[in-house]
Amino acid sequence: MPIISTLGLAGGQGKTTVALMLGRYLGRLGIPVLFIDADPQSSLTAFLGIDLQQNQPTLLEVITLSDSKLSAVDAIVQVPPTTEKPIVDNSNLFLIPADDGLEAANYKLAAGGMSLFALRQRLEPLEREFGAIIIDPPPERSHLAQTALGAADKWLIPAEASTKGVQSLVRTLALIEEFKSALPGRELLGVVPFRAKWVGRQPTKITSSSIEAMSTVAGADLMLSHILESDVFKQAIDKQVSPTDLGAGHLEYPIEQIIQKLKLSLAPKYQKLIKL
Ligand SMILES: Nc1ncnc2c1ncn2[C@@H]1O[C@H](COP(=O)(O)OP(=O)(O)O)[C@@H](O)[C@H]1O
Ligand SMILES: [Mg+2]
Repeated sequence: MPIISTLGLAGGQGKTTVALMLGRYLGRLGIPVLFIDADPQSSLTAFLGIDLQQNQPTLLEVITLSDSKLSAVDAIVQVPPTTEKPIVDNSNLFLIPADDGLEAANYKLAAGGMSLFALRQRLEPLEREFGAIIIDPPPERSHLAQTALGAADKWLIPAEASTKGVQSLVRTLALIEEFKSALPGRELLGVVPFRAKWVGRQPTKITSSSIEAMSTVAGADLMLSHILESDVFKQAIDKQVSPTDLGAGHLEYPIEQIIQKLKLSLAPKYQKLIKL
C-alpha cells in the first residue's frame, strides 16, 4: 500500500488541494483512503468538512502518545457524506485530523530526535486497512514536515506556476536531497505545476517561464501535467466535492496522471478498479 505525501516549502502551492483531490479520486474508484492532516493550519480537516468533537484524538495524540496509550486507529474519523447537492457519499474516505494544537507535536518530535521515522512507525498497523494513505504536510521546514517526508514512500511536489512556486520547488528538492540517503526506496513521483494560467490556447508568460524553470530545476522527466487556474477547484473545495462532481472532470486530468503513476504500487484488487 502506498503512503503518499505532498511536499512544498511555501504556502499556497497546492499541497492540500492535490492531496484532497487525489484521495477523493481514489475513493470514488472504490479504494479506501486514509488522509492524514499533518499541518496545524488543518486545511485538509476543514476541506473534508470535519468538525472535531472535544475528545477526538488528532495527529497530535498519534505522534505524542505511545501505542499502549492510544492506537492510531482510535484517531481515525470517517468523512461524512455531503448534505447538499451534489451528494457525494465519501464512504471510502477516512481522516486522522488536525487542529492548531498539532504545533506542539514539533516539540515532542524535536525532543525524540527521530522525526523522520516517528509517523511511519505509527502507521504500520494501519497498512492493511487502506488502499492508500495520503499525508498533507505543513509548509515550513518543521519536524512535522520531516515526519511526513519520512512516513511516505511516494512524494509529490505541487508548485505554483509563479516565481514563488519555483523558489518553493528549489527549497523542497533541497529538503529531499538532505534526507534522501536516510530514506532508501522512496520515490519522487514528480512536480505538479499548480494554478497554471492560460489565455485562449496559450499559457501566460509567467506560467510558461515558471514551468520551464521548474523543468530545468527538477528535470523534464519529473514534470507532471499542470493544474489549471480555475474557480471550479475553489467551488469544489467549498462544496466538499471534486471538479468531476461539478461536471468538470477534464480539470482532473493531472490527478488521473498521478493515479496512473501510482497504479502498480496499489494492491492488485485495487489496481483492477483503475480503468483510466
Ligand atoms: N485550480 C485552482 N485554481 C485556483 N485556485 C485554486 C485552485 N485549486 C485550489 N485553489 C486555491 O488555492 C489555495 C491554496 O491551495 P492549497 O492547496 O491550500 O495550498 P497549500 O496546501 O500548499 O498551502 C486554496 O485555498 C484554494 O482555494
Ligand atoms: Mg495546505
